[in-house]
This record gives sequence, C-alpha cells and structure tokens, in this order.
Amino acid sequence: MFRVCESMNSDTDSRQPFRVTVITLFPEYVEQAVSHSILGRALAAGLISVHVINPRDYATNRHKTVDDYPFGGGAGMVMKPEPLVAAIEASCESKGTSPVIFMSPAGEPLTQVIAAELSNLTGITLVCGHYEGIDERVREHWIDREISIGDYVLTGGEPAALVVIDAVCRLVPGVLGNDASPEDESFSDGTLEYPHFTRPSDFRGFKVPDILMSGHHAKIEDWRRTMALVRTRSRRPDLWERLQPLSKEDRKRIDTYDRLGESK
Ligand code: ADE
Repeated sequence: MFRVCESMNSDTDSRQPFRVTVITLFPEYVEQAVSHSILGRALAAGLISVHVINPRDYATNRHKTVDDYPFGGGAGMVMKPEPLVAAIEASCESKGTSPVIFMSPAGEPLTQVIAAELSNLTGITLVCGHYEGIDERVREHWIDREISIGDYVLTGGEPAALVVIDAVCRLVPGVLGNDASPEDESFSDGTLEYPHFTRPSDFRGFKVPDILMSGHHAKIEDWRRTMALVRTRSRRPDLWERLQPLSKEDRKRIDTYDRLGESK
C-alpha cells in the first residue's frame, strides 16, 4: 500500500521547493554531499530543499541506542523500530504529500522512469538502513516503497539515497538551467546517449567525425540517432530488446549502418 503522510499545510504552490528528507544516522555525510555543484546551486536557489533527521536523536535510553540483536540469533545488528519510526513520523509532520522510501538492495531497481515519476511529486523521504537492516515491522507499516540502486550491497543506505536524490532532483524544473535538456539524454527515450565531442577537432591525431562539423543539422540529428541505436544494441541488449519493433526510420538507419558503417 502506498502510504502518504498528510501535510499540516495543504499549500501545493509550484514555487515550493522539491522537498527531500533523509533519515540517516550520518546527517553530515548527506548534507556535505548535496552541497556541491548543481544540487548545491539548486539548494541555494530554493528549487529543492534537503532535510536530515537522525534516528539517534529519537533514541530514548542513556546510550542513544539505535540498534539491537536480532531475535532468533545470527550475525549483525538490526535497527530498532522506536527511534526509526519516531524519525519517520517527525518527517511526516512537515513534508507534505510524499512517499517514504527505504533504500534497500531488495527494492525495485531505480530507473529513469522512476526518477521522473518521483520528481513530479512534492518531495520524497528516504530512509537509510545500517547494520543488517531495519526491523521488518517498520518496513511493513511505515515504508511506502523500496528502491535499490543495483545488485550489490552497500555498507549503508546513504550512498544509494544520494544517487536517488541526484537522479530525481536534476529533473526538477529549473535545476539543470535552460541549456541542458533531460529529454535528450540516455534512457529518456530508451536508448543510450550518442557520443559527444568538443574542441579541438583533432586531439593527438584523433579526429571528430566530419558530419558534426558539416553544419548540416538534419544529417547531424540522423547520425546521432544512429549512434544512439548502435550503442544501445552493442552495450545493452536488454534495452535494445525493448526498442523492438524499431520504427521504419530507425530500421533504415541501422540497416544503412550495418551496410556502410558510420560514415553514411
Ligand atoms: N543499501 C545497501 N545496499 C543498497 C543498494 N544496492 N541499493 C539501495 N540501498 C542499499
């Protein structure tokens, strides 16, 4: 079930920043990482906001304990439910309508489609696990969605949360500025991106393809589409499969490439 926290303030003014809340035992790690480059500028411009909540601040005992031994025994510790749920509830009080997402290798794999979907919401709350994981009752009753950034295990959810923040926030209107267009890039149309070149046109004897310097825009677009298709076919057979059946134009591009190579 997709649980959505109710906002105390129902203002959905589009000028409100896209609100990211990260529940983490390492707030400085997250704050530091988002303060640079494009995300740093988006924060300064008020296009996005990032809030961190540390479950340790909600731990009730003298030692501020956030983990405990697993029932049934076994290696590793488990994040206790009380501080974690208190942190999630603190996030729900202020975050408007947005999903609570647990970063986990057992989640649905992050894709560009999911990133675009999340960027259309008012915000997201990302829960970072540590140790062996979180108490299953938290997962069942306080988490709306689980996302994985790939088939490997990290020491904690923070690097994964940063990947989600980056992929989602760059799609928030205004974050990339006017020049860059998210529609043009890898995955947005199911293909990998075509190759890019800049000056010098001859770098240590390696030349930029003539067509890119021809000034012939239609031919350049055609070449770029062909390269995107060829790259996708050779590097990502899974994506290539999903592109089938090709449009008549793309089929012609690929056939021509296979017959004559890149030059035509
Ligand atoms: N936490 C640990 N490993 C992870 C992964 N691969 N994706 C998301 N969260 C994680």
